[in-house]
Amino acid sequence: MTGALASTSGSALWYFSRATGVVTLGLLTLVVLLGVLTRGGKPLPGLPRFAVAGLHRNASLLVLVMLAVHISAAVLDSYAPISLADAVIPFVSAYRPFWLGLGALSFDLLLAVIATSLLRPYLGVRVWKAVHWAAYAAWPVALVHGLGTGTDASEGWMLAFTAVCVGVVVLAVIWRVVDLSSAPVRRKAVAVGAVVAAPLGLVVWMLAGPLAPQWASRAGTPTSLLASPAAATSSQTTPAPRGRGSVTGALTESGGEEDSTTVALAGTLSGNLSGRLTVELHGTALAGEEGLSLSSGTVTVTASDGARYSGAVSGLNGNEIRASLSGPGGSVSFDGLVDLNRTTGQFTGTVTLA
Ligand code: HEM
Repeated sequence: MTGALASTSGSALWYFSRATGVVTLGLLTLVVLLGVLTRGGKPLPGLPRFAVAGLHRNASLLVLVMLAVHISAAVLDSYAPISLADAVIPFVSAYRPFWLGLGALSFDLLLAVIATSLLRPYLGVRVWKAVHWAAYAAWPVALVHGLGTGTDASEGWMLAFTAVCVGVVVLAVIWRVVDLSSAPVRRKAVAVGAVVAAPLGLVVWMLAGPLAPQWASRAGTPTSLLASPAAATSSQTTPAPRGRGSVTGALTESGGEEDSTTVALAGTLSGNLSGRLTVELHGTALAGEEGLSLSSGTVTVTASDGARYSGAVSGLNGNEIRASLSGPGGSVSFDGLVDLNRTTGQFTGTVTLA
């Protein structure tokens, strides 16, 4: 997962789920490739057509085996709330419902293909063929599922692996359309155009989605997991929040005796951070200026899971506030640049926790 305050859970099952997801996608890509080659009706160099068909069938069964492991690992792992029903009923999961739902949809499509293949003698060829086309739909649906919900979607190796899978299928389909189909040239050109445009669409979606900031929360990860993916695995300590985000909120000023002033900021963090920020600065108002000669101050960041990180202000320089915060997940340095609007009683700014 990418995004807000997220880090990788140490759960072995979670790693296993990710690894088997990648293997399943690779195998499914192979199945699609072999399926296209089988339907192509031409023997491959060194391989008769029946052998290609045999490989296609065996690879499909291997997909199911790997998929069973992938699903079991995801369900058994306590990191995310995923039930067995979420694996078969699309779009009902509490965890990333749409993107996990695509995985379930792909699984259902594959089950339908396998069931109709086993019942083929009892079904007409037309019914079997119609359902078998669903196998081709299962591939892009699974691909987008992996990118939408996978922890590794933004990793270089995963992007390269995805590019290879997409390249293999695109080339196979183009070959099938151009070389073998008896369709008119114009229809072939439209088909090839669509096959070439689809990966471009995928790139655009990746840039706006899984590769863009805040994907974890936009994808529908429960807030409790966003604050700390490790929180659900009891053996893990919640890591201290780190990242850079924006803050907006309310500013209140109150005068004490003589020129002493208290400036209080209470705002909400967004961007690559989430949670609440409160800052309290005590000092003396500088004569004729808007500034404050600081005598003491505190900064508190409350992460989305309620973990509090606080510490004394160590520096106030113009609009910049610095502090060293500590909390359940350790220490983290705070650097905030705030823009105070005394007329409206609002403030905005950027916060870096490092
Ligand atoms: C043909 C069907 C499927 C394929 C090919 C597939 C493949 C993948 C791939 C490639 C990933 C990304 C792994 C990574 O980022 O390292 C992934 C992630 C995941 N899949 Fe699937 N999947 C399928 C179906 C399902 C189903 C039915 C479930 C339901 C339980 C599921 C649950 C998950 C979960 C929870 C993740 C996220 C793991 C993480 O955080 O990285 N998948 N899947």
